[in-house]
Amino acid sequence: MRVLVTGGAGFIGSAFVRLMLGEDRATRLVNLDKLTYAGNLENLTPVEADPRYRFVQGDICDTQLVLELLREEKPDAVVHFAAESHVDRSILGPGAFVETNVKGTFSLLEAARAVALPRFLHVSTDEVYGSIEEPHDADENYPLRASSPYSASKAASDLLALSYWTTFKLPVMVTRASNNYGPYQFPEKLIPLMISNALEGKPLPIYGDGMQVRDWLYVDDHCRAILAVLERGTPGEIYNVGGSRALPNREVVEKILDAVGQPHSLMTTVADRPGHDRRYAITTEKLERTTGWQARMPFEEGLAQTIAWYRSNPEWVARVRSGEYQSYYASNYGKRA
Ligand code: NAD
Ligand code: DAU
Repeated sequence: MRVLVTGGAGFIGSAFVRLMLGEDRATRLVNLDKLTYAGNLENLTPVEADPRYRFVQGDICDTQLVLELLREEKPDAVVHFAAESHVDRSILGPGAFVETNVKGTFSLLEAARAVALPRFLHVSTDEVYGSIEEPHDADENYPLRASSPYSASKAASDLLALSYWTTFKLPVMVTRASNNYGPYQFPEKLIPLMISNALEGKPLPIYGDGMQVRDWLYVDDHCRAILAVLERGTPGEIYNVGGSRALPNREVVEKILDAVGQPHSLMTTVADRPGHDRRYAITTEKLERTTGWQARMPFEEGLAQTIAWYRSNPEWVARVRSGEYQSYYASNYGKRA
């Protein structure tokens, strides 16, 4: 398969690129990435010399660039990861989320339509369903009740993408995954932030009571699900991808502290996230039934491997936390103490 990936220098996109090339699932893989603060070519060192691989630095909002790439490379599929992905940043400044997540997706869809692309996989999130009351789990028909500018921008892009199937018969599929974790995740998200702070004995900021529930999915399991949908999914369909491991944040952080050998007293309650979703819960039954996909990584094992990766890669952590990260950390956490 010839594939064009957007956002392949980010956390999940780079895991997908490494998987596709590492397991010989792509004969050609083009990675279009703007290299925002979250894009990091170090994540792609294992594939950078691979003759099947090409990196192009560029913005998905640049429809002309995307069109030229599609005409030149003639991919069988686009797998669209590129996004502004962090909820707290969308609260500090929603503009970039509308630009990249909504207008950027529109730009890609227009280019894909112009060349009659055979497959377009739009990578989305379970956050579009908003907070879910117990005992319900959201299936793919659950109403969209996005809470943050991030999730609203993803919901908008999901609807736009699906409309290109309904209206123009562009073969679009949408995946909606739960919270990912694993190596190379930017330490603004819960698990890598808590691991890196715990390794340095710094306070671990818990929003509110810390009893919000997230369903944890190992990044490689997510990438295998995307591959399964790419190969066996049906155009116009949505597929939830869950990890089947729902835990309150506090419990996740306690597991990290225990694994790192630090006291629970490092947990510090800080002001809650505005509009904070209490509980995410999805059913993955459709994906399992229609593609045969199953999550492989048990949470405790995935967490141990992730902690081991952060322990062995202090230079990577130091580089991504230098510069812009410091001002982000100050503006997000400074006011919360
Ligand atoms: P990330 O923030 O780690 O990476 C995003 C990548 O997109 C970066 O490489 C960045 O440089 C690139 N990018 C941003 N704006 C761009 C633009 N305008 N043009 C080209 N490239 C651009 O994100 P992630 O956590 O790897 O998430 C990837 C996708 O998966 C996103 O669409 C996100 O909504 C979705 N998702 C994430 C999670 C999660 O837990 N992280 C869960 C479900 C779905
Ligand atoms: O559900 C999928 C989504 O998961 C993805 O679409 C998003 O891209 C991804 O960022 C993630 O969103 P969350 O908001 O759930 O993830 P985050 O890691 O930011 O936070 C997880 C939980 O931890 C959430 O309840 C907020 C809490 N939290 C987070 C941070 C960064 C804290 O208590 N303290 C923190 O410092």
